[in-house]
Amino acid sequence: MRTEQPQVIYLKDYQAPEYLIDETHLTFELFEDHTLVHAQLVMRRNPARGAGLPPLVLDGQQLELLSVALDDQALNAGDYQLGDSHLSVQPTAATFTLGTSVKIHPESNTALEGLYKSSGMFCTQCEAEGFRKITYYLDRPDVMSTFTTTVIAEQHRYPVLLSNGNPIGSGPQEDGRHWATWEDPFVKPAYLFALVAGDLWCVEDKFTRQSGRDVTLRIYVEPENIDKCQHAMNSLKKSMRWDEEVYGREYDLDIFMIVAVNDFNMGAMENKGLNIFNSSCVLARAETATDAAHQRVEAVVAHEYFHNWSGNRVTCRDWFQLSLKEGFTVFRDAEFSADMNSRTVKRIEDVAYLRTHQFAEDAGPMAHAVRPDSFIEISNFYTLTVYEKGSEVVRMVRTLLGAEGFRKGSDLYFERHDGQAVTCDDFIKAMEDANGVDLTQFKRWYSQAGTPRLAVSESYDAGAQTYSLTFRQSCPATPDKVEKKPFVIPVELGLLDAQGNDIGLRLSGEAAAVGTTRVLSVTEAEQIFTFVDVAAKPLPSLLRGFSAPVKLSFPYDRDQLMFLMQHDSDGFNRWEAGQQLSVQVLQELIAQYQQGAELVLDQRLVTALGSVLANQQLDQAMVAEMLSLPGEAYLTEISEVADVDAIHAAREFARKQLAEQLFDGLWARYQANRELSKTTAYVAEAEHFARRSLQNIALSYLMLSGKPQVLAATQEQFDACDNMTERLTALAVLVNSAFTAERAKALEVFAENFKDNPLVMDQWFSVQAGSTLPGGLARVRELMQHPAFTLKNPNKVRALIGAFAGQNLINFHAADGSGYRFLADLVIELNALNPQIASRQLAPLTRWRKYDAARQALMKGELERIRGSGSLSSDVFEVVSKSLA
Ligand code: TRP
Ligand code: ZN
Repeated sequence: MRTEQPQVIYLKDYQAPEYLIDETHLTFELFEDHTLVHAQLVMRRNPARGAGLPPLVLDGQQLELLSVALDDQALNAGDYQLGDSHLSVQPTAATFTLGTSVKIHPESNTALEGLYKSSGMFCTQCEAEGFRKITYYLDRPDVMSTFTTTVIAEQHRYPVLLSNGNPIGSGPQEDGRHWATWEDPFVKPAYLFALVAGDLWCVEDKFTRQSGRDVTLRIYVEPENIDKCQHAMNSLKKSMRWDEEVYGREYDLDIFMIVAVNDFNMGAMENKGLNIFNSSCVLARAETATDAAHQRVEAVVAHEYFHNWSGNRVTCRDWFQLSLKEGFTVFRDAEFSADMNSRTVKRIEDVAYLRTHQFAEDAGPMAHAVRPDSFIEISNFYTLTVYEKGSEVVRMVRTLLGAEGFRKGSDLYFERHDGQAVTCDDFIKAMEDANGVDLTQFKRWYSQAGTPRLAVSESYDAGAQTYSLTFRQSCPATPDKVEKKPFVIPVELGLLDAQGNDIGLRLSGEAAAVGTTRVLSVTEAEQIFTFVDVAAKPLPSLLRGFSAPVKLSFPYDRDQLMFLMQHDSDGFNRWEAGQQLSVQVLQELIAQYQQGAELVLDQRLVTALGSVLANQQLDQAMVAEMLSLPGEAYLTEISEVADVDAIHAAREFARKQLAEQLFDGLWARYQANRELSKTTAYVAEAEHFARRSLQNIALSYLMLSGKPQVLAATQEQFDACDNMTERLTALAVLVNSAFTAERAKALEVFAENFKDNPLVMDQWFSVQAGSTLPGGLARVRELMQHPAFTLKNPNKVRALIGAFAGQNLINFHAADGSGYRFLADLVIELNALNPQIASRQLAPLTRWRKYDAARQALMKGELERIRGSGSLSSDVFEVVSKSLA
């Protein structure tokens, strides 16, 4: 907990370190009531900072200092200065060895940062600034060192002792304890350090590199989970192959390990050679993990593996450059998932997520650039903007350079900067140098926050046979900046003729048409592009594949959107047309609701979705995506003032109408797919995911009809299915239905079957937290008393509280403010236990500007109450104070 007023850190103040660490030698003695950490740091004056020997200031927090030595000479208390978060020593030579011993308490560490215990095992989480809770160090990513680590612990309790790199020795001691030493020859910053000690089993495999050498692959888990590792192992091997083929990147050490832990603040961590994962991102088998969970495991395994190059071999100079590794790696894992599954579906999912959540962040009080200019607590900047928008920025670079040019750029980047800590500018410079282009203006995507708007209008000149598109870009003010300069916006587009075919695209001034889909670079505030040889007025298909993270508007009418849904050659834009049609129809219903008028659904939506449903040629996952109406959170994001009740009522009304009017089509597709599920074994592959996703969205619509045959089908699926995807959907459908007794029974049966599997119980909590039936808060409060629930486990907090506040909008935003009060109480409690989780759970309250005056006042009142609640962590302090500014 903070004792001083939190400091703001600025990018402009960056200075290279005064000292460097060439070698780090660590010894850990793990005990039940404390841990001793002995460090020997081989250091030298950083030549880049000149001569002279300024004081050496090491980072360190919550450490009990036992001894300090310089070149093996013990220092007395008067020879060093010890503060709350620093240790200062005066070196007397340009090269020296610093030795320290400290005592720490992993057994009582609930923040899950530094060294801590999770389900009886020791593990670490050092990114971003957790290493300073382990030992005194220069805990900044531009200080890179080799590491040798010895772990000593009781043999019986902790038979497995792991750290980064290669094992170089191990053996027993006399006292029932044993030791193991690991050596990591690659220089790395301290945030990539890891240590694990526990009673773990492992699944082992091997991978043969392109160059012919084998790598040993191991996934370590608690013994009862040994049967849930195969999917992660397959994903790892696929990732290794993909990175060789697509980026020419080989793995470097002889062993690669993944360890699954139950208590983890995020998804996973890319520690060199020893990735530590939230068990939710490793464990997967048909009976206990949904299709979505299987896909998440594949994506996260890939993400962390890809960091070995984009993050570890080439790392960040400072934390302002976080997107250098995260944006790039998210882009890499997204492309991997697109290659392994359905490319269009992956893109749709990612864009829907970005537009719902990142756009909201970019429009709120915590809005920041992909490369922020300042922060108080870096943990607060592991955001949708740094990750997801950062990935979009990398995607735009590839769109502008083409796949080949992009590969040349990434080759140069990895070659030029291997072993270095660099900046986003270095990344762009490599792209520029490899392609002979100038990306100066493009770099505004790194420095300007906010979601750009791109308004497009058209004009057709029949006589001249020309068609012009006028683009006007603007970007709303964000807390950091009011005036924004124009971005470089790559707009991929096509023009459709009356038959729905793409026409050849020839811009005025060009000799001939250049393809039927192409990328225009919009670089000015207002810019006109004129196409020639256009025989009749076309219909534009704009921003194909979502080629830039902007809010595009074009005055389509509903018939035009229906036409695009049918004919656009770009799969993403077919879906997008359906979404825009749905938004128009839903906004009309919202207005009717607000006027107290009778709700009337535009039949064109029924017709459009009916023909999608009947289309047997279309990928079933696409059918499922197109049948999904925009979510309440997205409708909130695009509203000026979000009317929670109207949004909910309008969307539910539309869903019920669709269910009734399309009942026969939904029922037919449901039954056909359920039949296939019964007769084929579960496979975690795109085609099966697609089939089940259509089956399950159909079932959730069908249940809205309340018909007895649907109840019977749901119960049949719940009882007889062989996988969690079908079972959980059936449960969710019952939980949201009016069948009270059947719902209670299903919940009870499910909990009884899975009470020993915490990840499945998380799903059980989530499904109930998401139920929009009245009384949501009371249900959540009751569930918090369930023996499987604990505030100390982040997955549980996310499953119950996160799902309630983030997804159950109608209940969370109850007009009496009870949801807000509940969340604020929790944040205050979590602040003391786990600041990172506390701060993340706050996000829904920071969106207060979106709501009516009464709700705004209630939300702000709760933020103020948190602010006044006592000693706040820097994490919660930053979010609360910026939200109220
Ligand atoms: N680098 C991790 C990733 O790949 C992020 C991460 C994992 C993290 N655990 C963390 C960040 C704890 C902050 C705190 O995305
Ligand atoms: Zn990452």
